[in-house]
Amino acid sequence: MKRILSGIQPSGALHLGNYLGMMRPAVELQRHGEALYFIADLHALTTLRDPEALRRYSRDVALDFLACGLDPSRAFLFRQSDIPKVPLLTWILSTVTPMGLLERCHSYKDKLARGFAPSHALFSYPVLMAADILIYDSDIVPVGKDQKQHLEVTRDIAVKMNETFGEVFKLPEPSIREDAAVVPGIDGEKMSKSYRNTIEIFAGEKEMRKKIMGIVTDSAPVEAAKDPEKSSIYNLYRLFAPSDDAALMAEKFRAGGTGYGDFKKQLFGTVWDYFAPMRLKRAELEADPAFVDDVLRRGAEHANRLAETVMARVESAVGLRPARVEG
Ligand code: ADP
Ligand code: TRP
Repeated sequence: MKRILSGIQPSGALHLGNYLGMMRPAVELQRHGEALYFIADLHALTTLRDPEALRRYSRDVALDFLACGLDPSRAFLFRQSDIPKVPLLTWILSTVTPMGLLERCHSYKDKLARGFAPSHALFSYPVLMAADILIYDSDIVPVGKDQKQHLEVTRDIAVKMNETFGEVFKLPEPSIREDAAVVPGIDGEKMSKSYRNTIEIFAGEKEMRKKIMGIVTDSAPVEAAKDPEKSSIYNLYRLFAPSDDAALMAEKFRAGGTGYGDFKKQLFGTVWDYFAPMRLKRAELEADPAFVDDVLRRGAEHANRLAETVMARVESAVGLRPARVEG
């Protein structure tokens, strides 16, 4: 059985990009293998310096993910910081990680460009991510396209470890949905918590409507024919609506005669209805904190068992523990 693993940072409220790029595929995959999903709180610490916010967002990620269909009887959900061997593996991996590999990473450069101070943790972020993945012998990692390079770094580090210490790690494969690889935000750029262009999954009705009505468009008049592929409105709509409805909207774009405002209203109605059952589920979960605590505890227990097994192999391979007797 394949092992499926992914993580999400509790660095803000989750949005439609997170949902379409990572959570929906992760929920679908939980029926096809052993799924492990975690709240990457150690990663969030690289950019978040507000302890109350970190606690709140971590809890919210658990609630959001469970409300969006993560089924705790099929998949494990846990907090990254509950797995103490992860930072140990990070250190071991960092000893074989070439500086040049990390220097090439876009996400580090992007974060500096956005004004974050260049900390060591921000720079070595992909090594922690490699440890997250390799410590469970993961086979498949569902992520959005922005994480593709980090998966390549993970594989490079695994290869380096195997060349140096013998066959220690299996090489994981990313799983990226092409149709939702880069979900656009309300400004047309990649939707991201750090770009202030998100539509939050669990925003209130008024706020979600306001966000969707605020999607930036060109100034084409109502009568003009419009290109659906170039519009964030259509590109979001097609990811939530049945394919016939999406085809109809595309046709109306091309025909002209409909203003962007009408398309936005249609998008809002569809997205709002799509998440209606999830909102109900979320309210139930919020009223039952003991249940959520129990899910996280069971998830961490299982993840720790897997991590211990792999780490026994790693620690022997590098010489931190006695050599393993084969056979
Ligand atoms: P953010 O960029 O908002 O901080 P994260 O880095 O926490 O989001 O991403 C969590 C998961 O959601 C990752 O797998 C990431 O690839 C995916 N994701 C985030 N934004 C998008 C997007 N706009 N389109 C597709 N996937 C996305
Ligand atoms: N870096 C990922 C992101 O920002 C989150 C993450 C941390 C992750 N560790 C991971 C994703 C391991 C997949 C596998 O989205």
